[in-house]
Amino acid sequence: MQFSHSNLQPADSRGIARAVELLRAGEAVALPTETVYGLGGDGLRESALAKIFEIKGRPRFDPLILHVTSLAEAEALTLEWPAEARRLAEKFWPGPLTLVLPKRDIVPHLATSGQPTAALRCPSHPVMRQVIAEFGGPIAAPSANRFGRISPTTAAAVATELGTDVPLILDAGPCAVGLESTIVGWHEGRPLLLRAGGLPREDIEAITGPLERLAAVESSPLAPGQLKSHYAPRKPLLIVNRTDFHEVAADIPADARIGLLTFARQTLPSLSHEFPASFPAPSRTLDLSPTGNLAEAATRFFGALRELDEDSTVDRILAIRLPDHGLGLAINERLSRAEHR
Ligand code: TXA
Ligand code: MG
Repeated sequence: MQFSHSNLQPADSRGIARAVELLRAGEAVALPTETVYGLGGDGLRESALAKIFEIKGRPRFDPLILHVTSLAEAEALTLEWPAEARRLAEKFWPGPLTLVLPKRDIVPHLATSGQPTAALRCPSHPVMRQVIAEFGGPIAAPSANRFGRISPTTAAAVATELGTDVPLILDAGPCAVGLESTIVGWHEGRPLLLRAGGLPREDIEAITGPLERLAAVESSPLAPGQLKSHYAPRKPLLIVNRTDFHEVAADIPADARIGLLTFARQTLPSLSHEFPASFPAPSRTLDLSPTGNLAEAATRFFGALRELDEDSTVDRILAIRLPDHGLGLAINERLSRAEHR
């Protein structure tokens, strides 16, 4: 269905009341969270879930995250909790952490893509919390972008992605974290990092000890939705090591109009350290954090990617690999999945 009236509305009490009304009517609406904007719908209603998949163009084998306002609400949707899971929830909720746990029967199969587990997240964004509380039940919400595209961190980016396919986009300004939640699950009692995200891996490991990883394969039943190609700009994107620009030189034609996505420029002695003289000078450079602050880089990441993708003076994106720790790890993983020639 197309909604022709302007669907952007401020997240004030009127906007929130309208969101709740639409959710009750079984519609999907775009909602702000601290990580990225979500496309929310009634988490316990099949028809609302189906609408989310349809609007996003998302395959049904890619399960959704259910958003709640408390540990007790999460417990009402799930069965056993490993002691570690409860410790993580107590420490990091509300916040950018999603836990995958065995589900109860009330959670529809469509929400979990037929899996016996459900993904639960307790967001910290006050607007999202109020919407869930007033709605009075779990809200299923994937990121509010078309499937495989760049996640939206502003209401304007949601509008670019979904246009008038949603009746309402609740605008609460830019998202503070800027990356989707970190997802943790358990396999044979051991904690697994299913997706690096807005909560640094190290913070979780301080409680759980080392987390294992699964290879990023779509066929693994434990990591559905972790498709190789994702977060994709329309333009080609190549990742480079800061000290290794020569490595990609063969892929860069002399007349390339490069959009450079870089990091921590102010902390470097000089530009010549980065760019071989033979390289075409970038027509646009965006620094995710000139001073090298990873939290700032995370906040800006998706917006910067989107900006370079939309810049008409740029025909390919070159992205500097970030330090592989903290939120740098989560950004690098998104870059890897965005990379294409
Ligand atoms: O920060 C976030 O998590 C945002 C905001 C809106 O809350 N949401 C988000 O949702 O990133 P989405 O749909 O883009 O990512 C959901 C991912 C799935 O692709 C899948 O990898 C994982 O969560 N997931 C969901 N249910 C799962 C399950 N039962 N087992 C394993 N992974 C699951
Ligand atoms: Mg997503």
